[in-house]
Amino acid sequence: MSGGSGLILAVESSCDETAVAVVKDGRRILTNVVASQVALHSATGGIVPEVAARAHLRWMIPVLEQARRDAGINDWRGLEAIAVTEGPGLAGSLLVGITMAKTLAWLHNLPLVPVNHLEGHIYAAWLLDPGEDEKPAPGFPVVALVVSGGHTFLVEMTDHLRYRLLGQTVDDAAGEAFDKVGRLLGLPYPGGPAIMEAAAGAVSRDRVFPRAWLGETFDFSFSGLKTAARREVAKELGIDVAQMGSDGQDLPDSAVSELAYGFQDSVVDVLTKKTLRAADEIGARTIVVGGGVAANSVLRSAIEMQAEAHGISVVVPRPGLCTDNAAMIGAAGFFRARAGARAGADLAAKPSLKLAR
Ligand code: KG4
Ligand code: ZN
Repeated sequence: MSGGSGLILAVESSCDETAVAVVKDGRRILTNVVASQVALHSATGGIVPEVAARAHLRWMIPVLEQARRDAGINDWRGLEAIAVTEGPGLAGSLLVGITMAKTLAWLHNLPLVPVNHLEGHIYAAWLLDPGEDEKPAPGFPVVALVVSGGHTFLVEMTDHLRYRLLGQTVDDAAGEAFDKVGRLLGLPYPGGPAIMEAAAGAVSRDRVFPRAWLGETFDFSFSGLKTAARREVAKELGIDVAQMGSDGQDLPDSAVSELAYGFQDSVVDVLTKKTLRAADEIGARTIVVGGGVAANSVLRSAIEMQAEAHGISVVVPRPGLCTDNAAMIGAAGFFRARAGARAGADLAAKPSLKLAR
């Protein structure tokens, strides 16, 4: 491990958030600026890649300037490295952040460190907010559950940057299921927060959705939930599923809430039980949860409660650090930088990059 100031400037643009952060020693956030495109994409009910890439171009420099001002970086020589998300994500979106990071590294003669976005979601658990009290870092072995819009998997971490894949989704990601079912129920984009809110208002809780256990594996399957939701909606409307349109069904609020509850309950149940079983099996000291779906308060408390009963500690970052941000790239980037990871001017976007096999 080489030394240095420990200060990493990180750039993230893999999906629909344009983000720049400065993080010290892989943990302490100095600044974490995120320009969200949620309002832009809610009009289309989802992300249009071309629109996302253009918005990154519009916001990248103002976001960088704000981060630089907030962190008081006047002399770039004080930084140890520039970290950037190289993948996975949308090619055009990734390219904007990568080009920005390459330019900064070249201009200021700093090492360029490529980071896997999924690794970033895990390392969000290491972060400390500005002013937050010090606390111990997650103890290894760690079981990490990553639940985002594009990915859902469980990995074991025996040490920093060492991952062993335990299981993954065989079809939709958990966040994708939230988004699809949200759209079906006529809720705004993104579906995750909207379903959570609708579910909280459910009076009756007897609409039970199926659980895909997939035997004793640590794999997941969520695509059946969309089919189950369609069946429930058709029943509610008193029509045949085949006659039903695809999205934005007009249902009474009470039915939306009950269906949102049943759906969320199924996702949370499967994620929680599989994560706990994996943690027990490998003798994990810590469970770490990351990715946009980890912002879900029902999932957070279910995992926390279960883990407490098993004597395992849990770290779920605050919701703003579960969804896409650059501070998590700065945390992972620090450990990558110290392990000697370097990229050159030929660094390319890797839309389908994997974390572990
Ligand atoms: O990690 P993320 O910000 O972006 C990706 O890398 O995909 O995750 C976005 C996903 C979306 O599918 C969104 O619906 C979901 O996270 N999400 C939630 C919640 N907040 C965001 N899902 C469930 N409950 C939430 N509160
Ligand atoms: Zn993400």
